[in-house]
Amino acid sequence: MKKIFITGANGQLGRAVNARYANHKEIELINTDVAELDITNVEAVLNMIREVQPYAIINCAAHTAVDACETDEDNAYRINAIGARNLSIAAGQTGAKMMHISTDYVFAGDAKKPYTEFDMPNPQSAYGRTKLAGELFVKEFTDRHFIIRTAWLYGDGKNFVKTMLRLSEEHDEISVVNDQVGSPTSTRVLTDIIDRLLWTDNYGTFHGTCEGVCSWADFAEEIFRLAKKDTRVKRVTSAEYNAAANRPAYSVLDNYMLKLTTGYVADDWKIAIKEYIDRL
Ligand SMILES: NC(=O)c1ccc[n+]([C@@H]2O[C@H](COP(=O)([O-])OP(=O)(O)OC[C@H]3O[C@@H](n4cnc5c(N)ncnc54)[C@H](OP(=O)(O)O)[C@@H]3O)[C@@H](O)[C@H]2O)c1
Repeated sequence: MKKIFITGANGQLGRAVNARYANHKEIELINTDVAELDITNVEAVLNMIREVQPYAIINCAAHTAVDACETDEDNAYRINAIGARNLSIAAGQTGAKMMHISTDYVFAGDAKKPYTEFDMPNPQSAYGRTKLAGELFVKEFTDRHFIIRTAWLYGDGKNFVKTMLRLSEEHDEISVVNDQVGSPTSTRVLTDIIDRLLWTDNYGTFHGTCEGVCSWADFAEEIFRLAKKDTRVKRVTSAEYNAAANRPAYSVLDNYMLKLTTGYVADDWKIAIKEYIDRL
């Protein structure tokens, strides 16, 4: 029996990891969210992980509200950086593998081709800075780690797809940003990638997104097409939309390390969103 310790278990990814492993005979899931274990509390983290002695920790906890991170960067550092550090110290002390999730927003977004794991991060937002700091702590405190950078994630929880479907109930036309491109990724695809790595010693930093590229506006149109909604998408610029946080214009990730070391090729974003909408 392998114990998998999950933080942020009530979030989108935490739920997807549960959906994937819940009925697995060889796996025991230890689910925690902030009520059971606040990852910013180093003593609580060390005590619980020492007690459980897990095979691996999957850190699904994060402060993911990108705009809110701008107004309270200290809190974002506490959760996204210190939280990751605390879990990594515990993983290092107990020998647990550390599976940590990061983001495309660690990159500046001024590239002309997809970012590989060998490109230099240069975050332009508080969220991106705090997530990058989390990555650095994971590397500092554990040898046996996987850092997976994902992007535009949607699953069971609050996300862009759900927001578009909700807004389409109230509006005939919705303004959506057209000058940011990336790769929408379902939690189903991300848990496939986690599963590919978790049981191996193939450690390091990996990009883990769906294949293919689109803008948020393209993504919204595909969501409405699949959900058979007549809602029109009004394409606007980031400047017109005027969100609190800067977001990368181009944050396409190349799953280079994953392809090179495992041969795994993720589904195209259009396949993953169809599967998701079909299941809703
Ligand atoms: N969502 C995206 O578009 C996206 C894109 C790229 C990368 N990622 C990364 O993917 C990972 C999973 O994201 P997600 O969308 O599943 O996030 P999510 O749905 O926001 O879930 C995060 C969970 O962590 C919990 N949490 C917050 N602070 C905590 C603390 N101090 N201790 C313990 N738990 C805490 C949250 O609780 P509350 O809800 O009560 O705060 C929530 O249940 C994160 O590392 C994120 O940075 C996400």
